[in-house]
Amino acid sequence: MTNLASYRILFLINHNVLRIYEVRLNEISKYKQMLVGGMVAKPPVIGIFINRMRVLIACEESQTITAKYREKGIEAYSCDLKPAKINSDWHYQTDIFEVINLGWDLMIAHPPCTRLTVTGNKWYKPEFADRFPNIQEERKEAIEFFMKIANANINRIAIENPIGIMSSIFRKPNQVIQPYYFGDTERKATCLWLKNLPKLRHVKENNLFETKTHVEPEIITFKSGSTMSKIHFESSKLPKDLRSEVRSKTFEGIANAIVNQWIF
Ligand SMILES: C[S@@+](CC[C@H](N)C(=O)[O-])C[C@H]1O[C@@H](n2cnc3c(N)ncnc32)[C@H](O)[C@@H]1O
Repeated sequence: MTNLASYRILFLINHNVLRIYEVRLNEISKYKQMLVGGMVAKPPVIGIFINRMRVLIACEESQTITAKYREKGIEAYSCDLKPAKINSDWHYQTDIFEVINLGWDLMIAHPPCTRLTVTGNKWYKPEFADRFPNIQEERKEAIEFFMKIANANINRIAIENPIGIMSSIFRKPNQVIQPYYFGDTERKATCLWLKNLPKLRHVKENNLFETKTHVEPEIITFKSGSTMSKIHFESSKLPKDLRSEVRSKTFEGIANAIVNQWIF
């Protein structure tokens, strides 16, 4: 039987979702007529469309994006080996490949990046072999993990990772964003590999239609002249596990842009 509650009408302004209404199946034709009847104008758009989207946020224990989709009435689930930080009712605490084929319309994935970044490249040199005896094997596994995510049978996919080796092994990212493009004062280059998704829009300066989303990044400058992002500096004294958790949590501004713009 069709799930009547799963159909939704979305009202959009400037591509951002203003309001979502749940509708019954027998009401949909009425809204379809409104759509055909010219309710959709050119940007800035006030439009309507119908959706029943199911979203998987892969490798997300913070549930930052999942919770924001839920606030909009979207059926979103997070999956991570770790327990949920906000609500375990919409969390799969398991291996991502156990749930990846459950029929998702969109997957946003944050695969582990420790062995994929270029910043750790020096640890692969022979002189560090005693300290990191399995590092080559771990990198191979991280690449395989990333590629299994990229090749998942899901129509729309976004993979997020820092600048690293996947740009040459897989392909160049579609977009490189910064948290400060979306209202957080951090600087942390973040790559997005996109399948059937538009790039995330951000606005550098106010214009006729849109308000600026960029803010000034807060950067720590040392006496030597070298620089560090605020989050790296502030988290550097935390224990190792907590440090990587804090550093890899999705920024609020980026999460807001995702749930406002990637909604179908
Ligand atoms: C770079 S962190 C991403 C954190 C995310 N941005 C957040 O806000 O929660 C990578 C995450 O992948 C998870 N992970 C690693 N292997 C996994 C697997 N096989 N299945 C599901 N999650 C996995 C880790 O536990 C970790 O939380």
